[in-house]
Amino acid sequence: METSTAQPPAKTVLRVAAISGSLRRASANTGLIRAAAEICKESIPGLQVDHVDISELPLLNTDLEVGGGFPPAVEAFRAKVRAADCFLFASPEYNYSISGPLKNALDWGSRPPNCFADRAAAILSASGGSGGSRSQYHIRQVGVFLDIHFINKPEIFTKAHQPPNKFDDDGNLIDPETKEQLRKMLLSLKAFALRLQGKTASSEQGN
Ligand SMILES: Cc1cc2nc3c(=O)[nH]c(=O)nc-3n(C[C@H](O)[C@H](O)[C@H](O)COP(=O)(O)O)c2cc1C
Repeated sequence: METSTAQPPAKTVLRVAAISGSLRRASANTGLIRAAAEICKESIPGLQVDHVDISELPLLNTDLEVGGGFPPAVEAFRAKVRAADCFLFASPEYNYSISGPLKNALDWGSRPPNCFADRAAAILSASGGSGGSRSQYHIRQVGVFLDIHFINKPEIFTKAHQPPNKFDDDGNLIDPETKEQLRKMLLSLKAFALRLQGKTASSEQGN
C-alpha cells in the first residue's frame, strides 16, 4: 500500500512580494522569481510568491506626490508591498551596485509611511562575474533605513553567464543546484517571517 508524502496544509499562507531588479523580457532574475513561485507551489505549503512588476513605476519625483497621494502606478505598487508578509528581491548588479529600477521601487515604497517596514526579506541575484554580491550588500544597506530584516543565509550569487547554462533563452531557471539553493532560501525566509510574526514553522503545520 502506498503511503502519502503530501504535507498537511499550513494554517497561514505567508505572501511573498517578489521584486525583480531587471525589466528585460528574458531576465534571469525574473526567471528566479518564477522558479521561486513554482517551488512554493510544489513543495512549500504556507508560502506564496507573487511577482510585483515595477516596470510601470515613474522615476521618483516628489513633485508627483499631490495632496498626500501618489501616482496610480505608485499607489498600486505600495498597496502590494503593504499587503505582503515578506519580500524576495532578485536583482542583477549594475556597475557594482543596485539596479536603477530596483532602487527606484525601494525609494517609492519608502516614502512616508514607509511600506517596507518590519518585514523579513531575502535577496538573490543572477549577474556577471561576482554573481551580484556587491549589489546584494548595497541592497542590505538600503534595507537598514527601510527597517527590512534580511535573512543572512543561504546566500545565492548566481553567475548567470558562466557554464553550465543555468537559464534558457527565455530566462527560465534550468539549473537543479540553483533550484535547490533557492528552495532552502525560501524555507529560511518562511521560518524567519513566522518568527517575526510570533509564530513557528511547526505551529503552522496541520491542525
Ligand atoms: C548597465 C549594466 C551594468 C552592469 N554591471 C554589472 C556589474 O557591475 N557586475 C556584474 O556582475 N554584472 C553587471 N552587468 C551584467 C548584468 O548584471 C547581467 O547581465 C545580468 O545577468 C542581467 O540580469 P537579467 O538577466 O535579470 O537582466 C551589468 C549590466 C548592465 C546592463
